[in-house]
Amino acid sequence: MLHHIIPQPNDLRFTGGVCPAQRPLVIRDAAVPPEGYTLTVSKEGISIRCSTEKGRFYAAQTLRQLRNSDGTLPCCVISDAPRFAYRAFMLDSARHMQTVDEIERLIDAAALYKFNVFHWHLSDDQGYRIESERFPRLNEIASYRAMHGFGSLDRTRYGGFYTKNEIRAVVAYCEQRHITVIPEIDLPGHTKAILAAFPALSCRGDRVQPETRAGVFREIMCAGSDETLRFCCALLDEVCELFPGPYFHIGGDEAPKHRWQQCDKCKERMASAHLDSFEALQGDFINRLATHLRQNGKRAITWNESLQGGNLAPDVITADWMDREILCVRRANNGGDVIMEDFFHYYLDYPYAMTPLKKTYDFDPLPAGLCEAGKQHILGVETPLWTEFVEDFGHLCDMMFPRMMAVAERGWTREALCDHADFSRRAEAHRALLDAMGISMLPQAQWDPQPLLRLQKLAQHYKKTFNKETILSFLQPKDDAD
Ligand code: ACM
Ligand code: ZN
Repeated sequence: MLHHIIPQPNDLRFTGGVCPAQRPLVIRDAAVPPEGYTLTVSKEGISIRCSTEKGRFYAAQTLRQLRNSDGTLPCCVISDAPRFAYRAFMLDSARHMQTVDEIERLIDAAALYKFNVFHWHLSDDQGYRIESERFPRLNEIASYRAMHGFGSLDRTRYGGFYTKNEIRAVVAYCEQRHITVIPEIDLPGHTKAILAAFPALSCRGDRVQPETRAGVFREIMCAGSDETLRFCCALLDEVCELFPGPYFHIGGDEAPKHRWQQCDKCKERMASAHLDSFEALQGDFINRLATHLRQNGKRAITWNESLQGGNLAPDVITADWMDREILCVRRANNGGDVIMEDFFHYYLDYPYAMTPLKKTYDFDPLPAGLCEAGKQHILGVETPLWTEFVEDFGHLCDMMFPRMMAVAERGWTREALCDHADFSRRAEAHRALLDAMGISMLPQAQWDPQPLLRLQKLAQHYKKTFNKETILSFLQPKDDAD
């Protein structure tokens, strides 16, 4: 019998007949896995067997999707539990912000698809987005950039930040839906906005502005300065107070080492800590922040570049987005925890012409080369949405839906049950449900464009995104490129 549940349950048997929708009987059973449930729909009634409230919540999400159009439920037995413990979506609110209402709509959809982590990217070169009482200059200076778009013609000032109360509201909203929020303050790179407010934290102390361009910039935090480390720890402390979850993402991606190579303090730190490369200096910087977070009861997460120095502390979780050296596989095989968020498959800011739904769906989250023990250290999947070129919510929804649902299924359902064609049929059936939640899904005809059409669409996309102004801005010498 056809159904349209996403993610596909791991064990589902239709037993014939229908039952009127009614309040389910909940039975606690310690033998059921923590996020799992057994749902029985029979003519006599509905029962949910689970060991935790979270399991009950997931059974309720399945029930929502099981309902027939006449309100009845097909009789069935579903015994379900996730393949991976970590199932996340990431939203970049630094490049462009979303309203709290929009974020809550995304959280509603994420809960429906059994995501359990919201990774919130809140600081980058182009803006710092958290109210700060400890460092008011962050909001006065780092939260605003001189131009709205990235190379667009719109030259109005852009910015803002989420108040502490707004953040607490988002965290509470997630908590009610069994979603942990992981804040990210990207360090030591992607920090030009913070450095605009506090230039002394960089190696040279140059005055800079929050960025108005996309890209990777040489101006980063000094890794040898005690003052910089003290500032970062104090900043993390302030942000930790808002996020009760067990994890904190401290960035670590795309940090060019040009400044460190010329900096006496960075070189002194390398000598005193016996570090043999600038990549190891990054590992050391991340480790020092991770130690501080540990004292706050939190575990650090870092993007995969922080593995390059070979000295990352064993308990720091690595997020694999672009690991050309395959260091993450080695890390997992050696007992380090890894999250899979591959750029070519799970980055939702790229057009469907580059990353069609099928490409996202068919991606196996377990990379080649893992030993059996290593597989246990792949915590799960995450799908990021970066917003340099994704500004309005309708566009954002088109990029996320249905690809985010595909990642949800790959994070939950065992491999043998995953089928792209059947997933597409089920995803289309969710359109009305998502509409009612204030989420628009891209028209189905655009999910998997044919190869020739993909080329054409890609050309159109880049022509639209990278207009003359954008290209000229890329060609301009960067103010920090010397
Ligand atoms: C990243 O996309 N720079 C993590
Ligand atoms: Zn330095």
